[in-house]
Amino acid sequence: MDKKRYQAEVVLLVCTRKDGICGKKGTRLRARLNEAAEAQGLKKQIRVLPTGCLDACGCGPAVLDSASQTLYVDVGKDDAADIVRKTARRHGLKP
Ligand code: FES
Repeated sequence: MDKKRYQAEVVLLVCTRKDGICGKKGTRLRARLNEAAEAQGLKKQIRVLPTGCLDACGCGPAVLDSASQTLYVDVGKDDAADIVRKTARRHGLKP
């Protein structure tokens, strides 16, 4: 096994499970989180990745900042910038 250092400082996981409520909403949310990270100059520090169920079914779409064990649920379309801002503050990230 090889290992290498991951480039991003923080990873946000977005549930995009296709057969749950998160599917399409999660995919759109992931795009909005990426746009917000870019707009805030944090694209290199924050990586937004799709994932499967985060055990928040019925409250989706859901986003997990696993490094801080923060789970955002019922995320609306206007929440992406706020999540990126809070994530940066929590982890001390600078643009
Ligand atoms: S299907 Fe998205 S949290 Fe379970």
